[in-house]
Amino acid sequence: MGFSAAWLALREPADHAARDAALLRAAAQAAGPQAVIVDLGCGTGSTIRAFSGHLAAGSVWRLVDNDPELLRHAAEAAPGGVTTHRIDLRDLDLLPLDGASLVTASALLDLCSLDWVERLAARLAEHRLPFYAALSYDGVMHWTPADGADAPVTQAFNRHQVSDKGFGPALGPGATDAMAAALARRGYEVHRADSPWRLGPDQAALQRELVGGIADAADAAGEAQAKAWGGTRAAAAATALCHIGHTDLLALPPDAP
Ligand SMILES: C[S@@+](CC[C@H](N)C(=O)[O-])C[C@H]1O[C@@H](n2cnc3c(N)ncnc32)[C@H](O)[C@@H]1O
Repeated sequence: MGFSAAWLALREPADHAARDAALLRAAAQAAGPQAVIVDLGCGTGSTIRAFSGHLAAGSVWRLVDNDPELLRHAAEAAPGGVTTHRIDLRDLDLLPLDGASLVTASALLDLCSLDWVERLAARLAEHRLPFYAALSYDGVMHWTPADGADAPVTQAFNRHQVSDKGFGPALGPGATDAMAAALARRGYEVHRADSPWRLGPDQAALQRELVGGIADAADAAGEAQAKAWGGTRAAAAATALCHIGHTDLLALPPDAP
């Protein structure tokens, strides 16, 4: 599945506002004074910008994605100390983990399967690497004012979220629980925090794009009211409030300082 640079740019301010600030600071601290960070599914490099001001000078980023266009955007937007790696994340043996001090991902885990999460946890544990995964969708959405179709559309969207997004059956809203369990079983200390989008009328453009995508997915999952709901919600975007639930996770390896 594809993610356009335009969509990632539209969502970036909401993503940055939503990230849990304490967990982000703790992740930066876990990366250490000479940080070497591998960002999985980097898109246009939003995670680098989220860490701006939190890392010591001289930090190095290894940006991983399979989309050459997004990697080009990421390289252009990044300061020095960045390398890009065109890698299909399904093959975790290819990750450039040697000498890394932190692995990050954002808006990625919910696309992935249980098998992939278990394999990633094994790779992280093998290298004793801390892991920070932000903005995994948690299955909760609501709007103000409410609409009778919000609940059935959300249920259908959540069914669509667990369809294959390229990694096998996706975990969708169950992704953070699965990752937390896989790492806890390997002795990691796991911290979690809510990081919902809270979108108001000032983010009407994002709300409109978002409800269009939700309506398409819910329609594909068989919800008959989805398209009409999307039209109504898009028309109301300039006055509505919208909550989209996410979770951030930071996992520290055993005996981490
Ligand atoms: C929702 S976007 C998130 C991008 C970025 N982390 C952010 O927060 O803006 C998911 C990213 O994962 C990448 N991706 C999805 N499947 C992939 C795969 N099999 N191999 C490598 N990258 C993949 C996409 O190209 C996209 O950049």
